Amino acid sequence: MRAQVAIIGAGPSGLLLGQLLHLAGIDALILEQRSGDYVLGRIRAGLLEQGTIDLLDRAGVGARLHAQGLVHGGLELGFDGMRHRVDLHGATGKNVTIYGQTEITKDLMDARAAAGANTVYEAEDVSVHDFDGKQPVVRCRKDGIEHEIACDFIAGCDGFHGVCRQSAPQSALQTYERVYPFGWLGILSDTPPVSEELIYVNHARGFALCTMRSRTRSRYYLQCALDENIEAWPDARFWDELRLRLDEETAARLVTGPSIEKSIAPLRSFVAEPMRFGRLFLAGDAAHIVPPTGAKGLNLAASDIHYLSGGLIDYYATGKTAELDAYSEKCLRRIWQAERFSWWMTNLLHRFPENGPFGEKMQRAELEYLVGSPAARATLAENYVGLPF
Ligand code: APR
Ligand code: PHB
Repeated sequence: MRAQVAIIGAGPSGLLLGQLLHLAGIDALILEQRSGDYVLGRIRAGLLEQGTIDLLDRAGVGARLHAQGLVHGGLELGFDGMRHRVDLHGATGKNVTIYGQTEITKDLMDARAAAGANTVYEAEDVSVHDFDGKQPVVRCRKDGIEHEIACDFIAGCDGFHGVCRQSAPQSALQTYERVYPFGWLGILSDTPPVSEELIYVNHARGFALCTMRSRTRSRYYLQCALDENIEAWPDARFWDELRLRLDEETAARLVTGPSIEKSIAPLRSFVAEPMRFGRLFLAGDAAHIVPPTGAKGLNLAASDIHYLSGGLIDYYATGKTAELDAYSEKCLRRIWQAERFSWWMTNLLHRFPENGPFGEKMQRAELEYLVGSPAARATLAENYVGLPF
């Protein structure tokens, strides 16, 4: 088999890259270790920056997103039993849009199927070779048969646990990591969201977030211990705990119902540098992780794919490698900004028992500064709606 670009992983990064390359007439093969249904079954965040939407439009998959996405011009910060609005649109002229990652994945899968482009699902033992030379090779097994794919480039879009970053020469790879001492317990329910906009809550019992997928489907999160047992959280306990962390008015408005998904996710900041090793390029979660507090994970994957698709398209059009050569540096500049913002929001809103009373006073001072200062709110807003790419 041969392809111009072999893409490892059919998450949002791999599928979006595949679509942009397809539209440019570049032949890309996607290899995914899981089934399509499994990929679609993963529940992830769903908040899109305008830049991400523009890229999805360019990929020709914006129609459903524009019809069904919920446009938000603000968010709320809750603390001390009060809510304070941050006017994102007023501060930046930009909005964010709520549209689940599952829906984006589905739209990209449908577009790929309509284009007749090839995705190999349930590809086993994918391995990447010879990317330090001119003719990289990808090997895998499908239905018991070994395959070898010769290609010009490999795109490592295989997520945090993927094989591509692990296959890079470890002496050339530098990683930076912070693991936070808590997780998020998330619940999805077919109940109307408690509020039109997202509410991020700093509370003595721990962080809480009220978010949504649609006007009839809510998503709520609670800060929890890392070793929390999900069996110990029947729905009633979750709703009771959420009410305790919300201001009275919001708690009274909360509509509860049976959960349709419940899971615990750890919080991590992680960056691998560089993002290119010869003809192997890492993109999305394969190269970096942010804690979900700033909702940057998917948006960072989109900016990586913007730069990578641009570099590959330019290479096939002109034979020039300048954009590919600049890929890692351009991505990392934006990634570190998003890492900083996600780390800052995580620190602002969660309980860190090890930081003691001084840490709590610092959080309080920062929250009061945000409430009192348009400049502080503008800084939050500028980062939240997304720095340009
Ligand atoms: N071979 C083939 N496929 C693999 C391998 C492998 N060895 N390892 C992992 N994969 C697949 C996974 O099954 C998954 O479908 O790669 C895909 C990676 O997808 P994601 O983890 O969704 O990563 P990415 O596409 O970069 O999307 C980033 O996802 O985690 C969120 O916050 C993140 O929203 C952001 C987005
Ligand atoms: C979500 O909708 O799941 C979501 C939204 C905003 C966040 C994190 C998660 O900051």
